[in-house]
Amino acid sequence: MELTGTSNSLGEKVRGMTKLDRSMFTQTIQVPGIIVNIKSLKHLNKCFKKSMLKMPNIKAIADLETDNLCFKTHKLLLLDRNQYKSFDDFSEDEKGVMTAHDVDPNSFKMYSLETTYDNLTWDDVLKAVLPTDTDGVGGFSTIGHIVHLNLKDNLNDYKFLIGEVLVDKIKTVKTVINKTNTIDTTFRNFSLELLGGEDNMITINKENGCSFEMDFSKVYWNPKLGNEHARIISQLSPSDIVYDMMAGIGPFAIPASRKQCIVFANDLNPESFKWLEHNVKLNTSKKYKIDLNAYNMDGRDFIRNIVKMDMLKKWKKHGEEIAPPNIHIIMNLPAIATQFLDVFKGLYTTSDLQAEGATIKPIMPTIHCYCFCKSEDQENEALEMAELGLRMPLPEGATVHNVRNVAPKKDMMCVEFRLTDNVLICQEDETNSPQRKKMRTDTGGDI
Ligand SMILES: C[S@@+](CC[C@H](N)C(=O)[O-])C[C@H]1O[C@@H](n2cnc3c(N)ncnc32)[C@H](O)[C@@H]1O
Repeated sequence: MELTGTSNSLGEKVRGMTKLDRSMFTQTIQVPGIIVNIKSLKHLNKCFKKSMLKMPNIKAIADLETDNLCFKTHKLLLLDRNQYKSFDDFSEDEKGVMTAHDVDPNSFKMYSLETTYDNLTWDDVLKAVLPTDTDGVGGFSTIGHIVHLNLKDNLNDYKFLIGEVLVDKIKTVKTVINKTNTIDTTFRNFSLELLGGEDNMITINKENGCSFEMDFSKVYWNPKLGNEHARIISQLSPSDIVYDMMAGIGPFAIPASRKQCIVFANDLNPESFKWLEHNVKLNTSKKYKIDLNAYNMDGRDFIRNIVKMDMLKKWKKHGEEIAPPNIHIIMNLPAIATQFLDVFKGLYTTSDLQAEGATIKPIMPTIHCYCFCKSEDQENEALEMAELGLRMPLPEGATVHNVRNVAPKKDMMCVEFRLTDNVLICQEDETNSPQRKKMRTDTGGDI
């Protein structure tokens, strides 16, 4: 460490670099520091804990030059470059601690330090390289060992450099991918481009106490939905019944089953179905038995062919109970889920509710239907979309929850309401009901 030296601006050397040349990041920087007695290190360390130099692979407490007379008794304490430009930048408290521990004010200087690529964070590197008129890489998602970027077109020339830097700099990251289209495939997965690291899309993510393994290139997974999954799961009680119409790889369904709900989970994507079944096994342990019924079909068919019959069974079993289990139907396909709501309209006829001479008492399910809203009045927009999908006014008490902002002026919302008899049960034309027909036959047609 020298006492003088010039700092050269890194940006001047590397700005606009498109192919990563790590050697170009070597530079000499000026770092403020004070010389302190080894005996006082503990106290000064405590005093400057938050304001010491923080750079990867550099120790803030350094040895003095060997030819310094105090080499054996003193150390150099390196401080934050942005905080201390002159001695006046020390607070009165800091000055007091320094005086108490015999720190020579003249030892405060800018010390020259040679740094390399290894001493920079990914942010330092990209700030130095990317054109100053760009906003940088923006936010990114991490899914296990994968970093998922959504780069703007103006960073196209830099995308492979960005990939390489993130793999270099973030210890847990082995793969960097970029979204290449908007999410418009049926299965809500993205087209992906590998920017850096290994081409391995099979990853594992923890959420709400469960593990979810997946091929990220083939299924839908969004780490930003963890809170929403938790919100719904917190509404469930053991023995509740959950029908997840677009279940993906199970972020609602598996924790619901872990909570001892009875779960039916469906997804149209065969890959999601495969990973859903895999994750059921993955999360089954001595403590938690995950047991759910998985289906791979269109959501509408799932309601008509599976849920309809199963819900009738549950009504038969629990309809007369004073506190029957709650029934939840989850519809998380925000781009089009409201269009599926009409499947509930007249799903049952009054004759479906007749069993052994008695009328089955229905337990009305609660719907959680997701949508995207773009208007100023998102709540109204969400309610209107749901009403349009249901093709009739929403039952009283419908509420709207704002899940998250997904893009400028675009929010994901969840419309929640309990279905009612007049939506779910079709009042048959009396003269055509099977019962009336049977009566007609029994009485020779005279009724
Ligand atoms: C936005 S993702 C939600 C997945 C999961 N529920 C979650 O919260 O992460 C929507 C899911 O709907 C599935 N999907 C798309 N069209 C469908 C349909 N017609 N019927 C059932 N599932 C469908 C996709 O494969 C995808 O897994």
